[in-house]
Amino acid sequence: MLSERSVQIIKSTVPVLEVHGVAITKRFYEMMFAAHPELLNIFNHANQKQGRQQTALANVVYAAAVHIENLAAILPAVKQIAHKHRSLGVKPEHYPIVGEFLLKAIKDVLGDAATDDIIGAWGEAYGMIADAFIGVEAEMYKEAHQQPGGWEDFREFRVDRKVQESDSITSFYLVPKDGGAIASFLAGQYVSVRMAIPEDQFTHIRQYSLSDAPGKPYYRITVKREDGGESHPDGRVSNYLHHQIKEGDILHLSAPAGDFYLNLEDKRPVVLLSGGVGLTPMISMLNTLAEKDSERQVTFIHATENGKVHAMKQHVDELTQARPRMSAYYCYRNPSDQDRETQAFHKEGTIHLEWLKTIIPDQNASFYFCGPVPFMQAMNQALKDWGVSDSDIHFEFFGPAASLEPAAASAAR
Ligand SMILES: Cc1cc2nc3c(=O)[nH]c(=O)nc-3n(C[C@H](O)[C@H](O)[C@H](O)COP(=O)(O)OP(=O)(O)OC[C@H]3O[C@@H](n4cnc5c(N)ncnc54)[C@H](O)[C@@H]3O)c2cc1C
Ligand code: HEM
Repeated sequence: MLSERSVQIIKSTVPVLEVHGVAITKRFYEMMFAAHPELLNIFNHANQKQGRQQTALANVVYAAAVHIENLAAILPAVKQIAHKHRSLGVKPEHYPIVGEFLLKAIKDVLGDAATDDIIGAWGEAYGMIADAFIGVEAEMYKEAHQQPGGWEDFREFRVDRKVQESDSITSFYLVPKDGGAIASFLAGQYVSVRMAIPEDQFTHIRQYSLSDAPGKPYYRITVKREDGGESHPDGRVSNYLHHQIKEGDILHLSAPAGDFYLNLEDKRPVVLLSGGVGLTPMISMLNTLAEKDSERQVTFIHATENGKVHAMKQHVDELTQARPRMSAYYCYRNPSDQDRETQAFHKEGTIHLEWLKTIIPDQNASFYFCGPVPFMQAMNQALKDWGVSDSDIHFEFFGPAASLEPAAASAAR
């Protein structure tokens, strides 16, 4: 329990720290990586450079501090992060390091305004927040390890097959090198891949959603090649996977994780909405529903640029056409002449509520979505405008969690 005095100090300083939140977390990372460069083996360098991770960390620390008297209120957020921490290999011994540099960064940014009392109270609060994470993560490590086919940390997998799905998307079928069983997972969950690229000083860890239904002797991940542009370099790991990793090569995977998954208890209609490579968890869910021969009404809606980058179209068409309760709709932002000739898509432009209303039979359904952040913002807004309740809206970010408000509805694709 925090002392009453510390609670008062935390509450009165949260607004000040929030204002400086991003500066503090930016400084925190600079100082921590200077003292502990080995942590660059865990953290995503691109997220750091773009500031997304800084914002996510700051938001959670302040949300936790606001609820410091009742940490249970932020348990869902803790669990989502703890899944990612577990999948990355974050361990209890890392927490004091983060705590030390968070306090040093507060002191550094606030200067004299950060009195000993303030630093002391935040040190106490951080200890409580860290304990909450460590406790939840300990359970998750135990579960990952003790489940049938499970393991702790990273395990070697051989690339059994590499299959091109579109101009920019490729699937990798992964089997354990030791020939043992593999843990099951829930449709929608992801694995972390740890990659040592010979010319890079540090390893890279990236998450990839499992793109097939559970219960197979392999895991399948489906990866978009992130091409660079004038202002940004090629994505490091996705390009390495596409260009260098061959069948027979070894990848290091942690056990499946994540709190975004298809609820199989729910018997109501389900709507799977995806933009670009955000289709991967939706394919896992679609395949799962098809294999279970579910009675549920399933609507699969996919938005992408055009037919060239449309992955797994034939598979989805075959699956849905063979099942009266399943239907698939495609929205192309920039269809080619060939796409028009073959009537490969159902809508041109972006997805908006009026169109959704014409293809979804009933809004009393479970909605799952994933894609680029502007796509997700638009879907979230559309569903809210339609009156869908928060408890029926489920989503996954392919990066650090971001805000879904305010909706950039026109940017949807
Ligand atoms: C839960 C989850 C599930 C995911 N599932 C999938 C999936 O199924 N399929 C999939 O393809 N991806 C998925 N991702 C995304 C994936 O983890 C990687 O983020 C993605 O493959 C890009 O990694 P990369 O190493 O190629 O790019 P990075 O090197 O991490 O770069 C990412 C982006 O940042 C830009 N960038 C890098 N450095 C800079 C810089 N200095 N300045 C400005 N911009 C910069 C790059 O150009 C690139 O666009 C998922 C992510 C999460 C969190
Ligand atoms: C109480 C302390 C901590 C809090 C509040 C916290 C919070 C967060 C948050 C909010 C995210 C983003 C999750 C997402 O949306 O995907 C995250 C990711 C991450 N965290 Fe933590 N974290 C804490 C401690 C730690 C520790 C001790 C480590 C290990 C040194 C760590 C390593 C990471 C890494 C590597 C990521 C992935 C993000 C990336 O690489 O860009 N965290 N954490």
